[in-house]
Amino acid sequence: MLPYTTIHVEASRSYDIHIGRGILSQIGGFLRPLLGECRVAVLTDSTVDDLYGERLIETLGAAGYTADKFVVPAGEASKCADNLLEFLNFMADCKLTRSDAVIAFGGGVVGDMAGLSAALYLRGVKYVQIPTTLLAAVDSSVGGKTAIDIPAGKNLVGAFYQPALVCCDTELMDTLAPEVYRDGCAEVIKYGVILDKNLYDKLQQPPFDRESVVARCVEIKRDVVQQDEFDNGVRGLLNFGHTFGHAIEKMSRFGVSHGSAVAKGMVIAARMAPLCGRGNVAEELSALLAGYGFDLSCPYSADDLFDAILSDKKRRGGNITVVLPEAVGHCVLVGLTVEELHDKLKQILG
Ligand SMILES: NC(=O)c1ccc[n+]([C@@H]2O[C@H](COP(=O)([O-])OP(=O)(O)OC[C@H]3O[C@@H](n4cnc5c(N)ncnc54)[C@H](O)[C@@H]3O)[C@@H](O)[C@H]2O)c1
Repeated sequence: MLPYTTIHVEASRSYDIHIGRGILSQIGGFLRPLLGECRVAVLTDSTVDDLYGERLIETLGAAGYTADKFVVPAGEASKCADNLLEFLNFMADCKLTRSDAVIAFGGGVVGDMAGLSAALYLRGVKYVQIPTTLLAAVDSSVGGKTAIDIPAGKNLVGAFYQPALVCCDTELMDTLAPEVYRDGCAEVIKYGVILDKNLYDKLQQPPFDRESVVARCVEIKRDVVQQDEFDNGVRGLLNFGHTFGHAIEKMSRFGVSHGSAVAKGMVIAARMAPLCGRGNVAEELSALLAGYGFDLSCPYSADDLFDAILSDKKRRGGNITVVLPEAVGHCVLVGLTVEELHDKLKQILG
């Protein structure tokens, strides 16, 4: 047995998250007590399949599982209604029953779509997340938000549906493209700023120790999700940098990656904080993010960013909730009127 850390989540469905280097080889032992004997449908993407698809199917086979694999092209465009429907048909063709299961093997794209498929098929079958990107490990595989994109917007169709297990083999991340790994680092830094100064301090000298840092981020997300599974309050803290980041991502027509957009968004939020009577961490946060190679410039004007934010789904009535740092390790949710938001953005971006 290889060493691993287990983090337990108590939500509408309780589950364990195992984190360790090389633990994909032990997946059979993790699945057996949860699933018993059953069929599994694996959803993966073309890149992950080329790298690790055979290994997963062989490992599952050795553990006595009959596994059928469905591969979508790598990339966000695959998280769409056509692929969702095709995968549901595939599950039906494989004659999956309610005692069978889905495995998401990949980054957040595959994880979100597999989770939604599992929620929908036969009104719900179990699913297991095997995240293969840093972002999926620390964020999308934990907490039960599942979704696909539709032409009207990203993640507009989805469900809250918790997995039965998350198995995070950190060794798989060795093959990530540097920019994809860096995208995940933005989310890791986010956790430090919102809730954990110790974690933030640990991140000062990249590269960080992957296993312990992933485990700490997962713990933080677990604690937040346990308090507010359905995102009506404190879970909003996880959106630090995302209100602005999503707007930047959207305006760039997704040319700016999610992590880069979140990094820019976190700096805008940090600069907004003192304008709203909160703490000022903008300079030190910018230095940390720059050390990870993020370009922190915002290519859009205050007016453009404001318009893009207004069309985002996070708007409620005439108010916008933004996440602002009081200090490193302590963020708060602050309600602003749209006029206030516009005014602050103008002060920051001109
Ligand atoms: N459900 C949630 O709570 C939640 C939270 C954050 C983000 N998301 C979603 O997650 C998605 C982004 O996730 P992502 O950044 O993992 O993107 P992704 O799934 O597209 O993966 C990024 C790229 O890395 C490749 N890849 C994956 N694993 C690899 C590996 N081990 N080695 C080499 N290449 C590998 C993929 O093929 C892809 O090209 C978005 O759709 C976003 O909406 C969901």
